[in-house]
Amino acid sequence: MRSKPLPFVLATLLLAGLAPAAAQQTASPPPPADVVKPGNPRLADLMEAAQARHIKLWFAGITGNWKLAAYQNRQIKTRLQDAAALYQSLPVDDVTTMAKPIAALATAIAAEDSKAFVKAYGELTAGCNSCHREVKLGFVELKTPAVNPFSDQIFEPRKIVEPKKK
Ligand code: HEC
Repeated sequence: MRSKPLPFVLATLLLAGLAPAAAQQTASPPPPADVVKPGNPRLADLMEAAQARHIKLWFAGITGNWKLAAYQNRQIKTRLQDAAALYQSLPVDDVTTMAKPIAALATAIAAEDSKAFVKAYGELTAGCNSCHREVKLGFVELKTPAVNPFSDQIFEPRKIVEPKKK
């Protein structure tokens, strides 16, 4: 008899181990009731993408890499826009209030104003947490990152030589 492939065995073991634990967790709050349509990103994955950009935005901003900071701020904005468009169960007010800190960040970044950047970043993070509390996910709490986990990316501003237009 052919033995079962290792990933199958591992998955079975993992599921067997997780099943009782999952059954005991009925007390934890349910995630939003939206169904994930085929091809659409999951809400939690859009959020994780926003989280990565939340970290990158901080390190781009505090090192004064304003182009990168502007880029990361746009990435956060589009992830939240996608989340709002795809998941109607998200509280509308909590999505629209994010527009304010994102706009404040854009202004601070355009003015290359570090102090305003730090202030607006704090407001952005507070906005993330405020919606999480609203949807009973207060345990997903964001803060200003202490260390940069993206060690393969350069955050310090450098002179970039762009290719000439053909
Ligand atoms: C309008 C509401 C709302 C806003 C604003 C919001 N979130 Fe979320 N967030 C959610 C919901 C709902 C979930 C749970 C998603 C799920 O489990 O399906 C979530 C989950 C998360 C998670 C957990 C995902 C994981 O795998 O750990 C992280 C991290 C996260 N959000 C980061 C952020 C960041 C960073 C911001 C701000 C830039 C933000 N969120 C703004 C509603 C919001």
